[in-house]
Amino acid sequence: MIIDKNTLQKYDVAGPRYTSYPTAPQWSGDVTSDIYASALRSFGQNDKTLSLYIHVPFCEQLCYFCACNKVIRAKEEQVGDEFLDHLFKEIDNVAASIQHRKLIRQLHWGGGTPTYLSEGQIERLFSKLQSVFDIDLDEEIAIEIDPRTVTENKLKVLRRLGFNRISMGIQDFDAKVQDDINRVQPYKLVSQVHQWCRDLKFESINYDLIYGLPYQTKETFKKTVDLVIGLRPDRIALYSFAYVPWLSKPQNKFNLDAIAVHDEKLDIFIQSRENLLAHGYQAIAMDHFALTTDGMAKAFDTGTLHRNFMGYTLKPADEFIGLGPSAIGFLENTYFQNKKTLPEYYESTAQGRLPIERGKQLNQDDQIRQWVINGLMCRFQVDKKLFFDKFGYEFEDYFMEEGGHIRDCIEDGLISEDPKQIQVTDLGKIFIRNVCMVFDRYLKEKDGQKRFSRTV
Ligand SMILES: C[S@@+](CC[C@H](N)C(=O)[O-])C[C@H]1O[C@@H](n2cnc3c(N)ncnc32)[C@H](O)[C@@H]1O
Ligand code: SF4
Repeated sequence: MIIDKNTLQKYDVAGPRYTSYPTAPQWSGDVTSDIYASALRSFGQNDKTLSLYIHVPFCEQLCYFCACNKVIRAKEEQVGDEFLDHLFKEIDNVAASIQHRKLIRQLHWGGGTPTYLSEGQIERLFSKLQSVFDIDLDEEIAIEIDPRTVTENKLKVLRRLGFNRISMGIQDFDAKVQDDINRVQPYKLVSQVHQWCRDLKFESINYDLIYGLPYQTKETFKKTVDLVIGLRPDRIALYSFAYVPWLSKPQNKFNLDAIAVHDEKLDIFIQSRENLLAHGYQAIAMDHFALTTDGMAKAFDTGTLHRNFMGYTLKPADEFIGLGPSAIGFLENTYFQNKKTLPEYYESTAQGRLPIERGKQLNQDDQIRQWVINGLMCRFQVDKKLFFDKFGYEFEDYFMEEGGHIRDCIEDGLISEDPKQIQVTDLGKIFIRNVCMVFDRYLKEKDGQKRFSRTV
């Protein structure tokens, strides 16, 4: 694919990744623990199903690029025990508010690195969840692992408990890049962990890769992608490096001259994308690739792919609960986020409070725009008739003000439009965040430049 420089210049701006709409800068402390408790109570009285996320923040070593919410601690049983004490208080508190046993249709442990916990701690946490929720073991039970620290035995424990999906951070195989980002994990180590997962028959293995890291070039990253293709994970998340040094201080260590930007960075992405497409992978919505034989590829083709904070999913639950520091939930059309720092989270749980820090109650306009952005992110499309059936407005009337921006995107070849739908073009798929930005009411009101990473 050839992208002309003017298009690139115009759309290479700062913008959200839309894991939520409205995006996090719009959330506030107006959403309190009391509102959360009331949403949990309502949830307990209906028959909606649950998607549960657990955030375990610990990692043994800091990766300098990392923008996740994590806490670096040397491996110590006591750190995990203290964490579980507080997490169990939160679980009890949430369960007491719900008052009924709910069915978990999607369970995801993320972080940080959930496998920081010892085997005994992992078992204790799983049993604790089973003591208050029903876990449907036929659904997606996923965990993020760090290949540098996971052991074969830990993987055996996870499999025995019912985990069926593994996601691991790979980022890049190049020794110079690994050294600079402070994450040394040779190919041999990853292929060993991969083989353990295959032998244990995990249904799906996902790799995270990042393009745009320091010292990455087209040549070096091609070698990484070739090695990845050789290992054949079922799914690959190919993330654009989010360079946000104002949020993630260790990123200031990077030599700016060594970081590919603009067309250089985009070239790395396009080359990797073409390499993956040529080797049995299909591009799935934003950032993601899956083997054409994988359920996710089929779901994308049939328009049944869904997205939440845990990434893309085939079988969405109705409501989301997040447990652990910084975890996010979405209940009764309201986002809830837990206290982000460990001391604040511990303080709240110790006092028997639901540890909510902030959130956002969606008004009708938010819900409409959330639906449109979700359609673009999951299906690269907006169906105008479905829009009318769902909200009772003609698409063109509702988005009159956005008309100019929509026409701009059409002229630049990012989308096509007819009376039935908006369809994202191949070029638009690369700039999907920019297409979504057209429908983001809050970006019009505030300057988003300093808050987000660049879209390319
Ligand atoms: C919680 S980690 C994955 C599990 C485990 N901690 C590990 O690193 O192997 C989540 C993923 O977020 C991605 N990530 C973190 N910081 C990022 C950044 N600044 N830009 C793009 N992706 C990032 C990485 O690909 C990382 O694997
Ligand atoms: S990338 Fe993973 S292991 Fe590295 S610091 Fe971030 S969460 Fe921890």
